[in-house]
Amino acid sequence: MTIYLDNAASSCPKPPGVPEAVERSLRDYCANPGRGAHAKAVEAARVIHATRNKAAALLGAADSADIIFTQNATDALNMALRGLLSAGDHVITSNVEHNAVVRPLHNLSRQGVEVSVVESDAAGRLDMGDILAQVRENTRLAVFTHVSNVTAAIQPVAEIGGALAERGVHLLVDAAQSAGALPLDMGSMPISMLACTGHKSLMGPQGIGLLYISPDVELLSSRQGGTGSISEEPEQDLLARPDRYESGTLNTPGIAGLGAGIDFILEHGVEKLAAHKGALTRDLMQGLRAVAGVQLYGPAADEQRGPLVAFNVGGLPSSAVAARLDREYDIASRAGLHCAPGAHGAMGTLDRGVVRLSVGPFNNDSDIAAAVEAVARIARSA
Ligand SMILES: Cc1ncc(COP(=O)(O)O)c(C=O)c1O
Repeated sequence: MTIYLDNAASSCPKPPGVPEAVERSLRDYCANPGRGAHAKAVEAARVIHATRNKAAALLGAADSADIIFTQNATDALNMALRGLLSAGDHVITSNVEHNAVVRPLHNLSRQGVEVSVVESDAAGRLDMGDILAQVRENTRLAVFTHVSNVTAAIQPVAEIGGALAERGVHLLVDAAQSAGALPLDMGSMPISMLACTGHKSLMGPQGIGLLYISPDVELLSSRQGGTGSISEEPEQDLLARPDRYESGTLNTPGIAGLGAGIDFILEHGVEKLAAHKGALTRDLMQGLRAVAGVQLYGPAADEQRGPLVAFNVGGLPSSAVAARLDREYDIASRAGLHCAPGAHGAMGTLDRGVVRLSVGPFNNDSDIAAAVEAVARIARSA
């Protein structure tokens, strides 16, 4: 059976409730939510409302209307960046961002948005002083990833958000790797917007994500359309949240599955799941560190880090190692640049990328032992 250690790309397997919820939505109430008064449409709307409430509970958002469903984190980040920034605004970001941040900002820079990039250390950590030194008169926003999908470094987003808020700057957090993996509390963390994806640590299906928008932020929407509410009004900005930002028929099966994924997290507890994944990650790092020829990247095993390990073996290309793990040992990993080229600039791995092993709630000690043994054999034969 495949040993799945690619949970940072998409968590797999899902808790059993997730496929069941998706199937139930397609089988029992495949009607249009909020667009009819019959029982199936009402049930679809109820499930969407319930998932919104669960997401708000998990993220500590006081009002579930501030949770906006999107396709994924990329969609949420685009919505936030394009909705807040316009020509003449300045935004601060870092070199370790995913292309879901890098590419929209590159595009916005061609439209007159000024972008400053803060450089991390070699382990992917950002320095608060470096960030604050970039604040200018026209700085509107800063955007940072919470947990790097390459280095595993965790940025202190609450502290950063607090310091920026004192200077009148909003913080957008890319929580693609942290939502469901680390405790988050929008009630106490000074974060203006939080972009999440459903298919990683939130344990839901692909094609669903969300953007938390704090009540003091309004975005310009680039998408307008039917909401099933106040249909006589052409100006969608007059509608209350979430309809103001959700146009067209929602991804009901995805939202139903996401609701079941969040149920799993709430039932087991973020801290408990994080402790399990953290312990496996530490064991994995310790095992790999003992293998001659293996180079590990990112913060040390005893530092705060996300549940993923980036490494290389001797002089081998990362893709060759991942291919051998797959073909010879049936271990799912990921190789290459992981859509975050800047992080590789910091680590010195732009030429060959890194192999990434990332654990999920269903991994166990024997998965870690098998992965360490497989890497050791590859290293010996390299
Ligand atoms: C840090 C980070 N940001 C953003 C994304 C984009 O997520 P999605 O592809 O679900 O939009 C990812 C996905 O790998 C990620 O790891």
